[in-house]
Amino acid sequence: MNLGPIKYLIKERLGLQFAEHTEDALRRALAKRLAGTGAASVAAYMQRLDADEAEWHELTSLLTINETYFYREPQHLRLLTGALTTELLTRVAPGKRVRILSMGCSTGEEPYSIAMALREQYGESADRLFEIAAGDVDHQALDKARTGVYGAYSFRALPSELAGRYFTPVDAHHRQIDPALRRLVALRQVNVLAEAYPQDWAGQDVVFFRNVSIYFDAATRRAIHQRLQALLNPGGYLIVSATETLPNDFGLMNLEERDGVFFFVNRLAAQTRTKTPAFAEPLKSPTGSDGRRKDDRQFQPDPVKPTPPDLSTHEVGYQNALMLTREHRFDEALQALALLCVGDAAQSHHWALQAHVLLERGDAVGALAAVERALALDAWSVDALLLQGRIARFQGHLESAIGHFRQVVYSRPDCWPAHYHLAELYRDRGQTALAVREYRIVLRQIADRDGAMQTAGRLPLAMSIQDLRFLCETQLSRLGQTAD
Ligand SMILES: C[S@@+](CC[C@H](N)C(=O)[O-])C[C@H]1O[C@@H](n2cnc3c(N)ncnc32)[C@H](O)[C@@H]1O
Repeated sequence: MNLGPIKYLIKERLGLQFAEHTEDALRRALAKRLAGTGAASVAAYMQRLDADEAEWHELTSLLTINETYFYREPQHLRLLTGALTTELLTRVAPGKRVRILSMGCSTGEEPYSIAMALREQYGESADRLFEIAAGDVDHQALDKARTGVYGAYSFRALPSELAGRYFTPVDAHHRQIDPALRRLVALRQVNVLAEAYPQDWAGQDVVFFRNVSIYFDAATRRAIHQRLQALLNPGGYLIVSATETLPNDFGLMNLEERDGVFFFVNRLAAQTRTKTPAFAEPLKSPTGSDGRRKDDRQFQPDPVKPTPPDLSTHEVGYQNALMLTREHRFDEALQALALLCVGDAAQSHHWALQAHVLLERGDAVGALAAVERALALDAWSVDALLLQGRIARFQGHLESAIGHFRQVVYSRPDCWPAHYHLAELYRDRGQTALAVREYRIVLRQIADRDGAMQTAGRLPLAMSIQDLRFLCETQLSRLGQTAD
C-alpha cells in the first residue's frame, strides 16, 4: 500500500503526521474505511474523499486521538480562575463577558472543566460574566460532548465533590453533565488549520490549546500560533500544556510564568519581544512598593535570549530531571525536561524520560508523542521501546503491549524489565507456563544486582531489585512453581 499521497493529504488538511512507526494506526483506519466505502484501493478512496465531506469526517474520527479527562492539568484552571480572570474582569468593557475558547476540545472534558472551575469561583454569576466556546475537528467527539455522558475514565482527576455537584448518574458506570453547565459551552466543528475561523470567535481573552500541538510539526505549530494570536485580544492569554510551552515559543507571543505555571501572552506589537530564561531561572513579574504585582502591560523582562545549554549542562539538567522524577515531583521534572527537549541538543533519553513522567501522570497520549520523538532520535532506544509497551499496557491494549515487549527481548534478551512485563501480562491472561518462564528469566537476570542495574535502561525503576526478586518469587509460588 503506497501511503505517501494520503499521508500528504492528511497532513495538509488536519496537520497530523504519521511517522514510519505510527503508520499502523493509519493502515488500520484506511482498512476500515476502504471496507466501509467499498473503495478498491487507497487511490480510489482518495477520490471518494475529494467528493464526499462526510467520508472525510469518518476518516478524521478514526485518525484523531481524543484522550482527555476532567480537570487535566488543574494548575491551568487555578491560573484561570485566580490571576487571569481577576485581571480580565477589570479589563472587559461594561456589559461584555470575558471570552474563553477551548480549541481541540475533544469530547468536552476541557471546556466543561473550565465551566465548572468558573462556577466554583464565581457561583451562578459565572454564567453572565463568562462566555465559553469550544471547537474540534472531530464530529464524533463533538457529538459525545453534546450528549455529555461520560464513563469513569473521564473522572479520574475530578474531585469527587465536583462530580457529585455537576453530574447525574445514568447507570452504574456513566454520569451525565448538568444541563445548566452544558449550556455554558458553545460547541463547534472547526479545523484549527482552516483558513478562517468562525467570525464570532474573534476577540478571545483566553484560548486553551492543550495537547493538540504535539501531533504537528514545527512549521504547522507556528502557523497555528499565528492564527490563534489573531483570535486573541491584545493582552489575551494562550494556555498550552506544560510540555508544549518551549517547543511552541516562536517569538510571536511572550512566554511568561506565574506561580510556576507557564503560558503565552499576546503582548501589544510595539512591545519588545522577550524570551524568558524560563526554567533555569523562573521569570517573576516585579512587584511595586506596595508589594502588589505591577500591571503586566508595563512589564519589560530581560530581552536577552538564553544561550542554548552545552552538553554537560544538558547532562546536569537530565540528572536533575531524573532526581525530580524519582521524588515524584512530576511538574518540576516536566519543566526541567521541556528545556532539555527544545532545540538540536535534545537527545533520545530526554524524550524518553519525558514520556515516562507523562505516563506516571496518566497522560498516555502525551507519553506516546514523547516516545515517538525519542525513537526518531534513536530507533533502538531500549527505554523508548519499553515505554511503548508500558503505554499500550496502560491503555489496556494487552496484545500490542506483549508485541512491544517481545520486540525488546528479541533485540535485547538481557532486558529483564521487558521479561518482567511479559511475565505480568501472561499471568494476567492466565498463560501460566509462559508467565512462569518469564519470571524465572527475570530472577536469573537480576541475580547479579550490578549487572541488572546496567541492563535496566536509564529510567527510574518502579521498585528495588530486592523487592523485584521477592515479587517474582511470590508470583511463582502463587502459580505453584519455584524459582528454577
Ligand atoms: C488529545 S486531545 C486534547 C483534548 C484537550 N484539549 C485536552 O487537553 O484534554 C486532541 C484533540 O485535538 C483534536 N484535533 C486534532 N487535529 C485537529 C485539527 N486540525 N483541528 C482541530 N482539532 C484537532 C483531536 O480531534 C482531539 O480531539
